[in-house]
Formats: sequence, C-alpha cells, structure tokens
Amino acid sequence: MADGFSLNDALTGSGKPNPQGWPGPWGNQPAGAGGYPGASYPGAYPGQAPPGPYPGQAPPGPYPGQGAPGGYPGQAPPGAYPGPTAPGYPGPTAPGAYPGPGAYPPPGQQGASGGYAAAGPYGIPSGPLNVPYDLPLPGGVVPRMLITIVGTVKPNANRLALDFKTGNDVAFHFNPRFNEDNRRVIVCNSKLNNNWGREERQSIFPFESGKPFKIQVLVEPDHFKVAVNDAHLLQYNHRMRNLREISKLGISGDINLTSASHTMI
Ligand code: GAL
Repeated sequence: MADGFSLNDALTGSGKPNPQGWPGPWGNQPAGAGGYPGASYPGAYPGQAPPGPYPGQAPPGPYPGQGAPGGYPGQAPPGAYPGPTAPGYPGPTAPGAYPGPGAYPPPGQQGASGGYAAAGPYGIPSGPLNVPYDLPLPGGVVPRMLITIVGTVKPNANRLALDFKTGNDVAFHFNPRFNEDNRRVIVCNSKLNNNWGREERQSIFPFESGKPFKIQVLVEPDHFKVAVNDAHLLQYNHRMRNLREISKLGISGDINLTSASHTMI
C-alpha cells in the first residue's frame, strides 16, 4: 500500500518519490486553526450553540481570512496566517501552508465537557470530542477533499479505527492494531453487505500509545491517501466508486479525540 509518493507529489504531479512524504508547498498547518487570529465566534462559545448548522456551513457574515472558494467554510485559505501549533499537535509545522482544520462538533455532538469544546488558540473549538465520533461528510467525498483527525492515543491502546461509511457499508476501514499477536499492524479493508473484503496490511506503524497523532486522509480519484504526523503512510484504492455516498466518517477506538474536520485543497 505504501507507495513512497507523498500527497505533494500527487498534487504537483512531480512523479518523484518523496521519502519525506508530507510537507511540501502545501505543507502543514496547526491543527487548532480555523481561520482568523484572535477572533472567536461571536455569540457561540462557551456553552452555546453556534449560529446556524455546521460543519459544512459558513459562519454568518464574512470573517477575515475565511471563505476560500471551494474550500470548507470556517477555515482559512492557504497562507492566511502563521501560527503556533495547537496543543497536542505533533510534528513540524509549515506556517500558513494549507488550511488547518476547524473542529466543530456537528449538531447534536458536543465535547465531552458537555458544552461545545473549549476554544483553541484562535477561539476555534478544539477537543475533546466524544469517541466514537461521527464526522458528517455532507454530500459525500470528492477528490481533493482532505480529512484531518487530531488526537492522542490512550495508554495501552489496543486499536483505533476510521470508517468511511455509506449507510451500513464501509468504503474504507483504516484500523491500526497495537497488539495483534504481539505485532503492530494497520489493517485496511471495506465492508459490503456486512461482509469484510480482502485485507490490505501495512506494517509501518506510526502510532504510539500515549502519544498525540494527526491523521490526514486525502481523497484522490482512484484512492484514499493517508499520512500520519506529516509522513505519507499508505494509499487504499477505491473499491466503492460511489464516493458521493460516503457521507460519514466514524472515528473509534482507544483515543482521545481533539478535532476532526474536512476541507478542500
Ligand atoms: C475483523 C474485525 C473488524 C475489522 C475487519 C477488517 O477481524 O473484527 O473490526 O477490523 O477485521 O478486515
């Protein structure tokens, strides 16, 4: 599954293997970012529902640095601001390189504290989010959609999983297992009509119990591309072609979840 090509390669079409993997022109951005330095959602936090339904919808009114065309409302366009790394965010940061994820719990899902998650460094909510967590993907997924999940693996973790779902089917199951017969392995698969298909296994294992992580999943025309902590990890060819019907990402397992969001790049 690992192919030695980074997202950047894929996007720039350089065709060159890039063992470094992830960072590049579109690099990385602090996880807690969402758009506008110093501002918070007016009237939204703490403990109050934000105006209008989201995610997937722009906050009311034009906020500076938001509303990149084709992007995910509530997030900054590339290069909008430099900024520090959000708490718990591992790895290097290339400031201003690509939109950082917002972290709004969807309607009906709140942070573990009961209210909307506490504001992050820019007044943007960040974890904890209750796990299992369902991130709605309104309208399904499409190429160039980037999904970012930030969290911390619990101590003595056994597993975690991402499930890109279409109804009861799972288009893409990404399942790091910390102890399968004393080995660490990532199992990827799809589930159709309640039947798991052929597993694709990856022994490169970038997760550590007790440590923070960032998973990025980029939807490409033929596959999902996955990076962890800014390093390319694997790709998974689409088995279910109806990408528009992949309307939910389930996040489960032995993690504390800080944020889950999507954007277009
Ligand atoms: C099964 C496991 C499922 C899923 C599947 C993937 O053994 O129970 O949760 O991980 O493997 O092939």
